[in-house]
Amino acid sequence: MSDEIDRYAVFGNPVEHSKSPFIHTCFAEQTGQQLIYTAELVEPEDFENAVANFANNGGRGINITVPFKQAAWQLAGECSERAQRAGAVNTLVINGKDDYYGDNTDGVGLTRDLTINHKLQLQHKQILIVGAGGAVRGVIEPLLTEGPASLTIANRTKEKALQLARDFADLGNIRGCGLDELGSDRYDVIINGTSASLSGDLPSLPGTLIHQHTFCYDMMYATEATPFMRWAREHGAEKVEDGKGMLVEQAAESFRIWRGCKPETAPVIEALRNR
Ligand code: ATR
Repeated sequence: MSDEIDRYAVFGNPVEHSKSPFIHTCFAEQTGQQLIYTAELVEPEDFENAVANFANNGGRGINITVPFKQAAWQLAGECSERAQRAGAVNTLVINGKDDYYGDNTDGVGLTRDLTINHKLQLQHKQILIVGAGGAVRGVIEPLLTEGPASLTIANRTKEKALQLARDFADLGNIRGCGLDELGSDRYDVIINGTSASLSGDLPSLPGTLIHQHTFCYDMMYATEATPFMRWAREHGAEKVEDGKGMLVEQAAESFRIWRGCKPETAPVIEALRNR
């Protein structure tokens, strides 16, 4: 192993538009740490090799993004409880050759953004989360830990929502349904956890889900408002946010795990918004 500067990276495919190098470089400057953080495009069949090569070349930690979070979970010899529950790893700590520890900071990234940055109280709230893929699985446990009155998972493919609800039923009041079964109920918080925004799409949702004080949050982000954010505003939601704060918060938690100190997130969220 090289004794050069500590190296970190985000592994994904695609990965070229990742904001993680910018965010972690800001954290390193802010906390006076010496490190290099890059974005690495990895071919799907090459993930395990790519991790091993990175570890052999001074790599100390890796953030994992689409489509490798489950593969990283399988690769990690030991995992945090939250990563185990999510079945997905977004943060690998490289302890040595073939010795990787896996964690998942996505969920805490979301709840910190909601409760600290947006000052949203989740306790006793009716929460709707749209989508039932890997991104949603990673945030259910921390959301339920906040003690909402209910958490409804609605998905285009109903069976996946039902499965998630079964998997987390021991942690709180959670139910799954199809998008077409969302009736006349209104929600205090609506979170879009689908990947639809990435392709400029919008899950088909009735506008009646929203009341004036509904907080609408897209876990995705873009330079402009996502289709979900536009939909929310068109139906009268006054508080509509994207996932940039979640991105910075999950990164801050990864940085804390790797470097032992927690950076300030507010100036980095601000810098990201102004880029
Ligand atoms: P990720 O890891 O980002 O969650 P994923 O596991 O492929 O990716 O899950 C994508 C989620 O977005 C799924 O819930 C998917 O719905 P299906 O399970 O029915 O496929 C949802 N999704 C993607 N595009 C969508 C669209 N246009 N409308 C509604 N839901 C969509």
